[in-house]
Amino acid sequence: MRSVIPDYLAEVLRDVESNTSGQLADYIPELAAADPKRLGAAFATVDGEIYGAGDIDTEFTIQSISKPFMYALALADRSFAPVLAKVGVEPSGEAFNQISLESDTGRPFNPMINAGAITAHSLAGSEGMNPTERVERVVHGLSAFAGRELRIDEAVCVSEMEHAHRNLAIAYMLRGYGILTEDPRAIVEGYIRQCSVLVTARDLAMMAATLANRGVNPLSGERVVGEPVVRQVLSVMSTCGMYDAAGDWATQVGIPAKSGVAGGLIGALPGQIGIATFSPRLDAHGNSVRGVSLFERFSSDMGLHVMEVPAAARAIVRSNHVLGDGPHAVRVLQLQGGIGFAGAERVVREILNTAPAEVRVVLDLTMIYSINDVARRMLLEAVRRLTLDGHEVYLVDPESIVPDPDPGDGGRVTVVGVLEQAVISQHKVAQHRSRPTKRGT
Ligand code: DON
Repeated sequence: MRSVIPDYLAEVLRDVESNTSGQLADYIPELAAADPKRLGAAFATVDGEIYGAGDIDTEFTIQSISKPFMYALALADRSFAPVLAKVGVEPSGEAFNQISLESDTGRPFNPMINAGAITAHSLAGSEGMNPTERVERVVHGLSAFAGRELRIDEAVCVSEMEHAHRNLAIAYMLRGYGILTEDPRAIVEGYIRQCSVLVTARDLAMMAATLANRGVNPLSGERVVGEPVVRQVLSVMSTCGMYDAAGDWATQVGIPAKSGVAGGLIGALPGQIGIATFSPRLDAHGNSVRGVSLFERFSSDMGLHVMEVPAAARAIVRSNHVLGDGPHAVRVLQLQGGIGFAGAERVVREILNTAPAEVRVVLDLTMIYSINDVARRMLLEAVRRLTLDGHEVYLVDPESIVPDPDPGDGGRVTVVGVLEQAVISQHKVAQHRSRPTKRGT
């Protein structure tokens, strides 16, 4: 059997192919020479599978799609405070090349518009790097996101630099405000080299998947940036990534995204996939016309909008029952699914409402496939409180889904691999002591 996904992608490409509206970016002469018929789309899963249709191996320049990755590198290289001091996180509601600076400080509104991106470029790498070293850091960092060595298109770079009056004006303004501290021309040159890095839709899907995968490239396994950086970058992509079309995009598509004037467009759906499209004709905002249509289709066909409220998870407490009777009775709460805050609250409430009369209480996690940190802490605190109330608590956790199951101060828990180990009589428990793990005090 063939996978259904490439066939689906090919079908959606056929549907948008006839749309020839929009214009090639002509403020960079080399881009005006692009083939407007090019069309491709790729999905990269967070475990490294790539699906594609159309022109997914055609190289084009990354342009503004480099901006979120550059912001990520600046945050990773310099830490949050120095970067936030120089680049804001507010949508500007203006075009990408507007001089959108805070009136008092001269701080660019966000890192997705040119003013913020030029500043973010200046913050990549360590302090004191010269412009050449910084560009090397940038190309190396973008390559790590893509999982292969990327290179610069020198012709596009020269072509853009010859017409970079607006970006130079922005950079000189930023230098005047002290946001840039080096030669503005050298920084703009570096920024334009960054925009001239060649990628394919396949590369861009993988770069987006690295964001979707919490900063770890799904193919190379390399951690490119940390999780707090990814959260910051995805947040700014979702509010500012599509410039003055960001509100339309947020409501119609609802995927953190970034566009580039060479016709690329990426979306990163946290925990699921990276998506990239390529079609060079642009709308008035500088976003790919057919790329926007493709993303609208993907979002509605596959329910990818991040604000789509998932169906309420099936009950976390699968059953709450007593095994055995008399002094050997054991209260068993069998849990299921993935537990976050809401699920943990449900478990804690179930324990409170039950007010178990049995000494032994078992939380059976055999059917739990994930537990986040807050849920882990809440369950362990419930265990601690049950211990203080005189209960003996067992966790059935064959897959060690709860890391470090220490309930802390005065708490005590016995972790076992199967329910039977928790319900056998006291006498037999004593015989099995060597197998279960005792945690806590
Ligand atoms: O700064 C510029 O003008 C370009 N090198 C990048 C602009 C861009 O891609 C805008 N996005 N749609």
